[in-house]
Amino acid sequence: MRGPKPTVMAPPIRFRGIPRRSRVLVYALLCICIISLLPRFDFGIGRTLLFFLVSPQFAGRYEGGGGRGVDILQYVDPLIGTTNGGHVFPGASLPYGMAKAVADTQSPAENAAGFVSDSNPVLGFSHMHDSGTGGQPSLGNFPLFVHPGCPDDDFKKCAYTVMERAVNRTTDSAFAAPGYFTINLTNSVRAEMTVTEHTALYRFSFLNVNDGEVSVIDKESDADAPKTSQVPYSPLILIDLIDLMNSRYMGGIQVYNSSGRVIGEGSYSPSFGSGQYQAFFCADFRGAKIRKTGTFVGPDVTEGVDFLDSEKGHVPTGSAGAWIQFEKPLQGDEIMARVGVSFMSVDKACENAEEEIADWSFERVESDARKAWRTKLEVIEVDGTGVDDDLLTTFWSGLYRTLLSPQNYTGENPLWNSTEPYFDSFYCIWDSFRAQHPLLTIIDPDTQTDMVRALIDIYRHEGTLPDCRMSFCKGFTQGGSNADIVIADAYIKSLRSNINWTTAYEAVISDAEVEPPNWGSSGRGNLEAWHHVGFIPVDDIDRNGSGPASRTVSRGVEYAYDDFAISLLASALGKPLDAAKYSRRAANWRNYWNPSQRDLFRVPDTPDGDLSSSNFTGFMQPRQLDGSFKYQNTRSCSPIHNQHGCYYDTGLQTYEGSPWLYSFFVPQDMSSLISLMGGPQNFVERLTYFHTSGISYMGNEQGFLPVFQFHYASRPGLSSFWAREHIPSLFNASVNGIPGNDDCAMGAFSAFAMMGFFPVAGQDVYLLIPPFFRQVRIKAKEKGKWATIRVRNFDPDRKRIYVQSATLNGKKYTKSWMTHDIFLKGGTLEFVVGEEESKTWGVRDEDLPPSYQPIGLQDGDEEDEEDEEERRRKYAQLVYGNLDD
Ligand SMILES: *[C@@H]1O[C@H](CO)[C@@H](O)[C@H](O)[C@H]1NC(C)=O
Ligand SMILES: *[C@@H]1O[C@H](CO)[C@@H](O)[C@H](O)[C@H]1NC(C)=O
Ligand SMILES: *[C@@H]1O[C@H](CO)[C@@H](O)[C@H](O)[C@H]1NC(C)=O
Ligand SMILES: *[C@@H]1O[C@H](CO)[C@@H](O)[C@H](O)[C@H]1NC(C)=O
Ligand SMILES: *[C@@H]1O[C@H](CO)[C@@H](O)[C@H](O)[C@H]1NC(C)=O
Ligand SMILES: *[C@@H]1O[C@H](CO)[C@@H](O)[C@H](O)[C@H]1NC(C)=O
Ligand SMILES: *[C@@H]1O[C@H](CO)[C@@H](O)[C@H](O)[C@H]1NC(C)=O
Ligand SMILES: *[C@@H]1O[C@H](CO)[C@@H](O)[C@H](O)[C@H]1NC(C)=O
Ligand SMILES: *[C@@H]1O[C@H](CO)[C@@H](O)[C@H](O)[C@H]1NC(C)=O
Repeated sequence: MRGPKPTVMAPPIRFRGIPRRSRVLVYALLCICIISLLPRFDFGIGRTLLFFLVSPQFAGRYEGGGGRGVDILQYVDPLIGTTNGGHVFPGASLPYGMAKAVADTQSPAENAAGFVSDSNPVLGFSHMHDSGTGGQPSLGNFPLFVHPGCPDDDFKKCAYTVMERAVNRTTDSAFAAPGYFTINLTNSVRAEMTVTEHTALYRFSFLNVNDGEVSVIDKESDADAPKTSQVPYSPLILIDLIDLMNSRYMGGIQVYNSSGRVIGEGSYSPSFGSGQYQAFFCADFRGAKIRKTGTFVGPDVTEGVDFLDSEKGHVPTGSAGAWIQFEKPLQGDEIMARVGVSFMSVDKACENAEEEIADWSFERVESDARKAWRTKLEVIEVDGTGVDDDLLTTFWSGLYRTLLSPQNYTGENPLWNSTEPYFDSFYCIWDSFRAQHPLLTIIDPDTQTDMVRALIDIYRHEGTLPDCRMSFCKGFTQGGSNADIVIADAYIKSLRSNINWTTAYEAVISDAEVEPPNWGSSGRGNLEAWHHVGFIPVDDIDRNGSGPASRTVSRGVEYAYDDFAISLLASALGKPLDAAKYSRRAANWRNYWNPSQRDLFRVPDTPDGDLSSSNFTGFMQPRQLDGSFKYQNTRSCSPIHNQHGCYYDTGLQTYEGSPWLYSFFVPQDMSSLISLMGGPQNFVERLTYFHTSGISYMGNEQGFLPVFQFHYASRPGLSSFWAREHIPSLFNASVNGIPGNDDCAMGAFSAFAMMGFFPVAGQDVYLLIPPFFRQVRIKAKEKGKWATIRVRNFDPDRKRIYVQSATLNGKKYTKSWMTHDIFLKGGTLEFVVGEEESKTWGVRDEDLPPSYQPIGLQDGDEEDEEDEEERRRKYAQLVYGNLDD
């Protein structure tokens, strides 16, 4: 069924003058009439309809197309995660789009993606961003800034530099929808923006225009009693060569005084990596006659000097650029700006702009963007009957965010010529391998295939796979070489076409075998030790390469899992010897297990911080080459103990997480881990303690899998319980509704959990819980087929959250996990749920998700202590010379 007709959605002009509260009543009545005319609409949809009828911003932005007559885009709120460290990019973008336009705000430590939902002023509007990242702000090159006019009609009296020009936004005026962003500023400028692949289109309108003057709120006035002044109506638009983190060190700009075209370039630093990148733009304007043009360098403004070039010494770092002052707009108080961007050349930037937006039609561009988003999201259908609208918004917005990045820079790669696709902003794979890439594998397998091809092409040309990569530069590797997992996952889930598996295999083997000289930005470090002794000693001497010699525990457990992924790939590619070799290395996590390590901590709020301990013994701990363990507090770098102590190079032996957390990271062999932890019951107690004690942190991707690991101890119901504890309390539809940096991955966690399954990335395994909806349908790879997941006796009140029994394609299904098959061929998984945990479903050994012991080694047949000692001795001799000397 199609949705309500667009004419219903655009509020008739005459209603716009009615005060909002009365408008709600008017529309509520109208709505009830409409609903009563449409018998198949249930109440949930009715409420939704009401929601966008009363918001003029929504007018025309949504139309039919989603399942059951609702436009799913109305459930996408791009502003979610724009405070509280989410660092989400809320502006206009296409799926994976390179052009990403938004207002950049002066929000220290928060504006990694440009815009923040706070009250800080706006610095300009820029055309490229990264979404959800930590660290320094990314991109944000070539911001535009708009003055409605200059005091005393003197262009020198306008503010030019980023420090001076910042202007407040009108409270609550920011609004975002897929492919669209708008905000009003207190200088009477309203900015709207939309994009194509490589071009941003802006519509600036001028409010409060009267008799050739515009009234502007004075910057120095008090927000509670704002003073206004008048400026002559003669808009001045500047374009600055600066980027968000002020990293530019070269650049040039040219403004053409007759056409108004502005072109330019700059060289910048990547936000979480090393090296430099160059970017180019080409801006054109429509809607007003040019009065004056000029340039500025810092606060020095000149008319008639239309060219700056750093090679001629014109452009130091910081703010510098060009400006155009216009007559008042020809009609409608509007000026449009079209900004093409490129990483290749100015010519390519102009070509992108001219090809993509020849018609200057804001409505057409915006509508195309909406269509592109709808097409991507329509592969999923959700029956939201009875479910809170906020939950639907959490779900769809999370899905939307996972499609913002990696960004498609195909055709924009200046580094090499290739017929392969090029994707960038893998930011970082350490974050994204766990949920984002597995989600894309299901909902957008073709693009995930392109991304894998891009990774392999990067290997082909640069010699290593990336972990982190942005703006054509190598980023910093946070842990293991986790691209190995992404690549293995692709093969296992049948993303085969056009991927050269010979090269793919070569790439992952190179991660496992060859240490790059700088392993801080690709591959792995301490590989000789890894190969010889099976762990990374804290006192290792690495003669093969350099990188931050920290994180020996977390890198080690990740290397083990990377090797496991390689063993699965080797096995699938028919290489049994390699499969056995890497499956043995996959067991190296055991070498970090200190069985007698107690969980000591200082009791908060006691006078001297009394020392106490929980009853859990046995943790992953750092080790020295002589085999002894070194102590790292089991809770350090969790939210309750020194949370920020574990970054890239902060010396501790785990990365962004505690030994508590890393002690659960054995996705390849949970059954052995559970034995070490004292059996299923102790394991469940421990995992429960992890979730209740404040040690767990859902604001980072490592927090995802432990929510579902109860499955491995025959308690899948507890996974359902904990998923529901976190959604919506930590993942919700508020602007602060993401517990940490989004990384385009947080939404994948909530989306998976709500659909009722969670991937164990790198394996053909999805852990099952009852979905948060009555039914979810996902388009399968085979044409015309759907994967359907359904709850027979669904309970919108979330009391019946435990699976009692299940059927898969009509047959009884007792396993607590499923394979990817359903997403290839389609199928129906149906749950019956109840208020108590089932004692039969998913509890028997044969129903548990798989655990893998090393190939060729039976249980209890491990290489013995003596053997390890011997290997350590030999290796020590190798790196330290003869120990007896
Ligand atoms: C922003 O400006 C537009 C255009 O004048 C206006 O319709 C809208 O109400 C403004 N929004 C806010 C929140 O002031
Ligand atoms: C601009 O915003 C800041 C931060 O909210 C506020 O302190 C200041 O008073 C505002 N200025 C005006 C003129 O509204
Ligand atoms: C416009 O630019 C051209 C070429 O740089 C220059 O010759 C001309 O004087 C300029 N015109 C004005 C009005 O500044
Ligand atoms: C790519 O090919 C073009 C055309 O042959 C050439 O001009 C350019 O230098 C090549 N780029 C690289 C990075 O090799
Ligand atoms: C990536 O960009 C290229 C070049 O613009 C385009 O042909 C391709 O369809 C894009 N792929 C996706 C998944 O958007
Ligand atoms: C895959 O790459 C290898 C080089 O690693 C090359 O020899 C082979 O021809 C490629 N295969 C295909 C199908 O392109
Ligand atoms: C370390 O360097 C040695 C000497 O160049 C080389 O033989 C060995 O293969 C390297 N090891 C790794 C893991 O790269
Ligand atoms: C440890 O176990 C003892 C005895 O079972 C119990 O009394 C105590 O509360 C436990 N301590 C913690 C921190 O759970
Ligand atoms: C939404 O999520 C945020 C961040 O995780 C959390 O702080 C907030 O309390 C949640 N809000 C609601 C209403 O649950």
